[in-house]
Amino acid sequence: MQPASPWLLLLLYCAVYFTASSPGPAAAAAGGSSFVFEDNFDIMWAEDHFKTSPDGQVWYLYLDKKTGCGFQTKQRYRFGWFSMKLKLVGGDSAGVVTAFYMCSDLGAGPERDEIDFEFLGNRSGQPYTIQTNIYKSGVGGREMRHMLWFDPTADFHTYALLWNPHRLVFYVDRVPIRVLKNTEGPNDFFPIEKPMWMFSSIWNADDWATRGGLEKTDWKKAPFVSTYKDFVADACQWKDPYPACVATTTKNWWDQYGAWVLSADQQEDFSWVGRNLVIYDYCKDTERYPKLPPECSL
Ligand SMILES: *[C@@H]1O[C@H](CO)[C@@H](O)[C@H](O)[C@H]1NC(C)=O
Repeated sequence: MQPASPWLLLLLYCAVYFTASSPGPAAAAAGGSSFVFEDNFDIMWAEDHFKTSPDGQVWYLYLDKKTGCGFQTKQRYRFGWFSMKLKLVGGDSAGVVTAFYMCSDLGAGPERDEIDFEFLGNRSGQPYTIQTNIYKSGVGGREMRHMLWFDPTADFHTYALLWNPHRLVFYVDRVPIRVLKNTEGPNDFFPIEKPMWMFSSIWNADDWATRGGLEKTDWKKAPFVSTYKDFVADACQWKDPYPACVATTTKNWWDQYGAWVLSADQQEDFSWVGRNLVIYDYCKDTERYPKLPPECSL
């Protein structure tokens, strides 16, 4: 395939932008109130590498040669709409990974479920890549990689997850870029049981992130800073003891029929992303998986 010209991409982007009208995310945005950091999050590590704006609404994560840092929600959630606005490290960010993810475990527990957005930095002027991944009961290796249709270091963009018992959808702005269905069969790979915390972090991954680890982090450019704001969790907050967050009520917009399927417009956008922006899909990687994982054929 020939690389698409920037103008064609721009044109397509405009088309996507103006057709994307998803009832769910729009509704969530309208209800999105400002989150006070201390009330909702804890810093996971390296408090001295974390800053907020004077009004507490914008959060800066720093990475230098010594360490990165990260924060997590105080609460766990099971199902809902989770979104964050991020502006990624600009300039030379090769080797730097910024993440926004959900995980059922506070460490890398062997039974964890996890849903990841990872932003892989690059040399100045080279495009960022967005990697998504899913773990179920400690099993991962479900990576997809996408190009973006904008420069994620120039401004804030919204990255969101819609998670209900039927679908898991990764959104970039209002465009669905990845969809996992719950097929409820024996070959299903849908994380459903475990409530999850939401995490954000920045770290050095120059052993693999940029051009497969060939491009190393240039520490002369440190500190590297990623910026976060406007977190929304329009979601079911988990409360021990069980039962909580069981799908017995349908009053939440994120678990109504409209959020179980993509609308026609969303489907169109999703197909466009699939045709133009996917640069890696584990379901096509027969070198890595001579026998593809079963969910790939569902
Ligand atoms: C970095 O830029 C190179 C060259 O344009 C590209 O091949 C690569 O996919 C980009 N992203 C990463 C994460 O390596």
